[in-house]
Amino acid sequence: MTPQLVAPDVAFQQSYLEALLEFHAENRNLEQDETVIEHDFAGYVRYLHMQSTDERREGLVPESFYWLVDDDLYIGRVSVRHSLNNRLLLFGGHIGYEIRTSQRRKGYGTLILQLGLAKARSVGITRALVTCDDDNIGSAKVIEANGGILENTVLLNHRPVATRRYWIDVTG
Ligand SMILES: CC(C)(COP(=O)(O)OP(=O)(O)OC[C@H]1O[C@@H](n2cnc3c(N)ncnc32)[C@H](O)[C@@H]1OP(=O)(O)O)[C@@H](O)C(=O)NCCC(=O)NCCS
Repeated sequence: MTPQLVAPDVAFQQSYLEALLEFHAENRNLEQDETVIEHDFAGYVRYLHMQSTDERREGLVPESFYWLVDDDLYIGRVSVRHSLNNRLLLFGGHIGYEIRTSQRRKGYGTLILQLGLAKARSVGITRALVTCDDDNIGSAKVIEANGGILENTVLLNHRPVATRRYWIDVTG
């Protein structure tokens, strides 16, 4: 099959939970409690869908989540923030993404950002801000492969590592 972006769906529960354990093993996504999510996976999927609407938590911009899957394999996640607030303008940007540990360095990171940029265009974004840690070589390569132009590298109070801020023209 061809990897594709889909809206979060209960059909991927088993593979998603396996991926979550991979992220936990490298101390990522620890805020996602596997037991809680497994207990009510449908509720978790509904929660993700709700983030793109006005029913999201106070102070957060609408954010659409998509999963990169191949057949029934969960590969990774990309999310598109529909607008920027002051915090996202410095760190976070319009698009966030991650590829599960076991599926890295196969081109999926480059693909998921490419597909995420098309989703950004569909919510009216013309220039997408994408940020990454200065020492995240893989992510910087993913952004540059997708046409990212580095605006600057900033040192933020709450971050131990400097943040690279790239812009990508999504009108083309
Ligand atoms: C960053 C991340 C998305 C890259 O995903 P990926 O599927 O490995 O990316 P790709 O396979 O498309 O690799 C793109 C390029 O980066 C390189 N690369 C990937 N990981 C790398 C690493 N850890 N060190 C050095 N180079 C790396 C690849 O070799 C490839 O190089 P090439 O274009 O010269 O061949 C993935 O490592 C990840 O999810 N990390 C944790 C979460 C994260 O950092 N998200 C991004 C936040 S800004």
